[in-house]
Amino acid sequence: AGRCVVAVDGPSGSGKSTVSRRLAASLTARYLDTGAMYRAITWAVLRSGVDLTDAQAVAKVAGEVDLRIGTDPTGYGVTADGVGVEAEIRGPEVTAAVSAVASVPAVRALLVARQRDMIAKAGRIVVEGRDIGSVVAPDADLKVYLTASAAARAARRSAEDASDVAATAADLARRDQIDSTRKADPLAQAPDAVVLDTTELGIDEVVAKLRALLAERN
Ligand code: C5P
Repeated sequence: AGRCVVAVDGPSGSGKSTVSRRLAASLTARYLDTGAMYRAITWAVLRSGVDLTDAQAVAKVAGEVDLRIGTDPTGYGVTADGVGVEAEIRGPEVTAAVSAVASVPAVRALLVARQRDMIAKAGRIVVEGRDIGSVVAPDADLKVYLTASAAARAARRSAEDASDVAATAADLARRDQIDSTRKADPLAQAPDAVVLDTTELGIDEVVAKLRALLAERN
């Protein structure tokens, strides 16, 4: 099987992660969770104690942290300076701070370069994030933009982590606002992306639809 890059973008709770992992496994492709990279950097920034609003200090920490992430769709490890941070990066502290860290242009430049490198090495890969089709991999074979109603997204997220639905809805709205209005690489629909509303669709239906789209293009 040849080179195949699939870009999956969309807001949190749109079904990106589950769909991307399943699609990658079904294509025997690699999988890259770029959100986990921003989260791991955020974990390091919080640990360093620098002021989150000090872009220069945040960028300095980001440049110094030894970030490693796997690309196996059935389970990847994320380490920062040798510490396994898989659980920590899903916690409330990191979730509350990640959009601020991800809005620092120097942090994005660093991670976008790493992501492009990993995509080139993998060849066959499903990449999920906010700016994959628009910035990281504008030449992707297929670009997908997943959406879902705000209520469906909040319900999915709170089912995943057993959090309160109202609090989750507020957090998603807050992060969407920061992610889509920041100056550097905002959450954006690439003009050539296929938009799929997953509010009423099951995971298997979404994956089947994407496989059909890929088959059409190859
Ligand atoms: O996808 P996930 O919710 O883990 O992403 C966490 C945060 O990382 C997003 O809210 C966004 O601020 C940032 N992010 C980004 N660009 C990406 C992936 C994630 O800015 N490609």
